[in-house]
Amino acid sequence: MHVVHVGSEVFPFSRSGGLGDVLGALPAEQAALSEQQGQGGEPLQVTVVSPWYGSLAGRPAEIWRGPLPELPPEGLGPAEVQVGEIVQGGVRYLFVGLSEFGRPGLYHPDDVWRFSLFGRAVLPALRRVGAVPDVLHGHDWQAGLVVAHAHLAGLRTVFSIHNLQYQGKWNIAEGARWTGLPEWAFGPETLEFHGDLNLMKAGLVFADQVTTVSPTYAREITTPQYGEGLEGLLIRLTLDGRLGGIINGLDQERWNPRIDPDIETYSNPDGKARATAALRAEFGLDGAPLLAAVSRLADQKGMDLLIEALPELVQDWNVVVLGGGDPLLEAALTGWAQHPRVTFVSGMNEPLAHRIYAGADAFAMPSRFEPCGLSQMIAMRYGTLPVVRETGGLVDTVPHDVGFRFPEASPQGLSAACREARAEYERRADWRRRVEEAMSLDFSWAGPAGQYLNLYRRLR
Ligand code: GLC
Repeated sequence: MHVVHVGSEVFPFSRSGGLGDVLGALPAEQAALSEQQGQGGEPLQVTVVSPWYGSLAGRPAEIWRGPLPELPPEGLGPAEVQVGEIVQGGVRYLFVGLSEFGRPGLYHPDDVWRFSLFGRAVLPALRRVGAVPDVLHGHDWQAGLVVAHAHLAGLRTVFSIHNLQYQGKWNIAEGARWTGLPEWAFGPETLEFHGDLNLMKAGLVFADQVTTVSPTYAREITTPQYGEGLEGLLIRLTLDGRLGGIINGLDQERWNPRIDPDIETYSNPDGKARATAALRAEFGLDGAPLLAAVSRLADQKGMDLLIEALPELVQDWNVVVLGGGDPLLEAALTGWAQHPRVTFVSGMNEPLAHRIYAGADAFAMPSRFEPCGLSQMIAMRYGTLPVVRETGGLVDTVPHDVGFRFPEASPQGLSAACREARAEYERRADWRRRVEEAMSLDFSWAGPAGQYLNLYRRLR
């Protein structure tokens, strides 16, 4: 069986967030699983397709180049397409090169146009290099159109929602022409959404099976609060047995305090105490425990709630925030950084992120919604106790006897959970038990990767 994953980012070649992490880890785990299952099982071949960005970290070998008549006529689309290849860890990574993706960075305001071209190019490109899948597995709206084309070509398809908030919408009169889909595909039952073209809907409508990255989020998105206007369609998919949740795993090598090259490694709470001392020294912190956040500064992540709770939080905690995004939130945090107990580092810095996960005592995730969330799993692996809003994957991954959970997305909710955590911190033996429990939890990809394999087999 040949499975082809399609998505807009894949670690370590391109990454802006959790989607890149998943596409960097899940396919490799599936390849490893099929290796283990050995002779008995059907051999599995795993390919990942993503754009060949100008800023790609890695040098693919060009294996094909030429015009694709399947793309929009000359003048509209690129004259030539390239396919590059990197084979690594049992997985074949294919990069589709279109001139539109040559600019720096990953995402741009004309992405609906760019990913329409990408969506049309993927299957023809796979045909040219002899890599047609049995199952095509698309991820998020950027792969929606690929799923539609694969379905219409008679392939089995899976579509995974990593974040329903971003849907790839555009004026339908213009956008519809970019897609290469037949005219009947632009009604309210298909790609039309409140008068717009919606490429997330392309994935939802055409996939044989839709998944999202946690069971709780799969239920939440059938409600108006979390459904982003698509709850009607998502209810129908649920009733048809076509929507379910499979929790993400964590890359066990990249996030492992026992071998992490960015920290003084450790395997128990005493070792962790040394990492905490090192981080305190690095930031010049006082004796209060350390509450950290490593996060995109976006509405989803509720960092405004954290900022609003700071007057109370700084009474009990040192607070360290690493992340970038919304300029207003950055400005507010920069202002707060005058306070002796608040540290803000703007942007993303992977080695520092590792030192923070290792050195913090508690980790705040006041998310308004969280399809899965990876940071809470990383934090627990490093013995850092999460304080999380009860939503999505945070519900499914943070046990009550390890982390601290709160139901309401409000500064008061977060403060109350942090107060509870602070009180527990004083009961040193209880805190230590939680840290040990956190570090022993299993967030490996093996289980989820197997669940996806079973799903592919069922579809065939
Ligand atoms: C998105 C979601 C996050 C999830 C990640 C990977 O970034 O916001 O919750 O963990 O995708 O699936």
